[in-house]
Amino acid sequence: MAPTTSDWSPQDIARCVSSVMRARRSVRAFKPQPLPRELVQEILEDAACAPSGANIQPWRVHVVSGAVKDELASALVDAFRAGKATAPTHFPAPLPALFHARLLDFGARYYGSLGIDRDDAPARMRQTERNFSFFGAPVGLIFSIDRRLKPHSWIDLGLFAQSVMIAAKARGLDTCPQVAFAQFHDTIAPRLHMPPEEITAFGMSMGHGDSAAPVNQAGMPRERADGFARFLGFAH
Ligand SMILES: Cc1cc2nc3c(=O)[nH]c(=O)nc-3n(C[C@H](O)[C@H](O)[C@H](O)COP(=O)(O)O)c2cc1C
Repeated sequence: MAPTTSDWSPQDIARCVSSVMRARRSVRAFKPQPLPRELVQEILEDAACAPSGANIQPWRVHVVSGAVKDELASALVDAFRAGKATAPTHFPAPLPALFHARLLDFGARYYGSLGIDRDDAPARMRQTERNFSFFGAPVGLIFSIDRRLKPHSWIDLGLFAQSVMIAAKARGLDTCPQVAFAQFHDTIAPRLHMPPEEITAFGMSMGHGDSAAPVNQAGMPRERADGFARFLGFAH
């Protein structure tokens, strides 16, 4: 049932939306508890309210659970171990200094939460591999888009994905967006019967997060709005 806010004050609505947005985290360890299809469908219906340029709604999502998810995960783990990643890396080289510093900070916090040393490449690989079993989540989502579309439409897909994560969090569910899947489009596409014009953009794990897991304790800081925004023309 979609939440109704008609009898809420604007302050209550703002508090509620703000608290859900601030509570969302990338969760990388899940409880096995399955999710009903109707719940995931409801989340996707909410997320489909996301805007898109000229309302073309370019998002496509393949939702996998049970044996289908396990078989896909197993094929992806095999492909990862066999070094079958096909897509180029997600960041340019060299990465501009500010972003590089943040990337290093991310790695220190992420691998630090697991007690993995930054020089321990095999342990990092084992953790990276966990992406492909959806970090133990009961539901996996593969987001795809028509490859003929331009970056402009990929923005739409990103807005849709954030809406999925917020709609999930509002229902007490956790998620992790994962670009790691994009490297394995060739493994994913035939298993999900994607038409040739479709390309894997990223994946997502969804379920009840294991709040006790050390990996879920790694908080990621944010720059404040005063740092990344310029305010022009305001009286105060
Ligand atoms: C487009 C995108 C791709 C991401 N890909 C991965 C991924 O492949 N594996 C992973 O563990 N986390 C991935 N993340 C999660 C980010 O590391 C995470 O959002 C960031 O560190 C901020 O932490 P937070 O989401 O907990 O606030 C991705 C996030 C986004 C938005």
